[in-house]
Amino acid sequence: MLSHLLHLEGIESVVLEARSRKYVEERIRAGVLEQGTVDLLVETGVGERMKRQGLVHHGIELRFGGRGHRIDLSGLTNGSAVTIYAQHEVIKDLIGARLAAGGQLVFEAEDVSVHDFDGSVPRIRFREDGTATELHCDFIAGCDGFHGICRPTIPADALTMYDRTYPFAWLGILAEARPSSEELIYAYHERGFALHSMRSPSITRLYLQCAPDEQVDNWPDRKIWDELEKRFATVDGWKLNQGPVLQKGITPMRSFVVEPMQFGSLFLAGDAAHIVPPTGAKGLNLAVADVRVLARALTDYYATGSRELLARYSETCLRRVWKVQRFSWWMTSMLHRFGDENAFDQRRQLAELDYVTSSRAAAQSLAENYVGLPME
Ligand code: PHB
Repeated sequence: MLSHLLHLEGIESVVLEARSRKYVEERIRAGVLEQGTVDLLVETGVGERMKRQGLVHHGIELRFGGRGHRIDLSGLTNGSAVTIYAQHEVIKDLIGARLAAGGQLVFEAEDVSVHDFDGSVPRIRFREDGTATELHCDFIAGCDGFHGICRPTIPADALTMYDRTYPFAWLGILAEARPSSEELIYAYHERGFALHSMRSPSITRLYLQCAPDEQVDNWPDRKIWDELEKRFATVDGWKLNQGPVLQKGITPMRSFVVEPMQFGSLFLAGDAAHIVPPTGAKGLNLAVADVRVLARALTDYYATGSRELLARYSETCLRRVWKVQRFSWWMTSMLHRFGDENAFDQRRQLAELDYVTSSRAAAQSLAENYVGLPME
């Protein structure tokens, strides 16, 4: 996305991707796009397929005590919505756009290392098809994820990390089954959280809260369906559509932020700088918001020579990052069973759910965060 935004401003970039094109175009990841993300894809000419195939959702359901409660996202936010369109489809569209514009993408780049980003000519070394190469550049964007090489290359004493782990993970499946509801369902249940999502009118995405160290092998398909049925059960006999399980995996949960998101000419964006638990569906959207700020700052630098926006990159991003951290933590805390909680905390969670689904003010707060806070 960053490379695409820079290209539109006439700024050249090279994208180094450790994985193969096939891998990044097929790997199942997130699926919920905020209104601002959708708008940006459309405005920058990469939203055609999303507009055709994406599913626009105007509400979500919170389910607890055997009953569903709808949060009218659009009604509470002057018409904003979220769009269900898989992250790997966004990636396909962006790769297509960059290649069509003659963009430089290196897949399966090996042994990538970043150098001299506190000096005047940052360099990146890597190997492509076994051949060692060195790039000289003005800036390096570390968009290489939580386990990437950019953040650890910054001197440790220049960074402060803020971290929270949770005593659970999510077991997720992709099933060849018609979604059982038109909208997403976030279910609070005494057996643990469950989420009903989808990827298309014929593919359902489902998650259930499990132990943090859970092994997929402990969860045969039958056991997963039985557990999901229990957690989604309603007093009026709601039915969960089932079908062949296409994919199964564990999603870890953590909250993490590094400050600042910049060191010299190296700018961190997305998961390289912060991780949110998936409950608010914010990870991809937060990464898009970061690179939008970075693209503007770089555009301003090349247009005027001023480094002012670049110097403010971290501060600008972090204001939004922390609000999204707060929301993701809050959704997670409200909806999951914590191992060490007592009866008081469970009553408090139910009161929170009751409040959010009965107070317009509380529902509106959830809705404005869910569809996405303003980008800047
Ligand atoms: C998903 O569809 O993968 C999904 C949806 C909503 C979330 C998290 C994941 O909060």
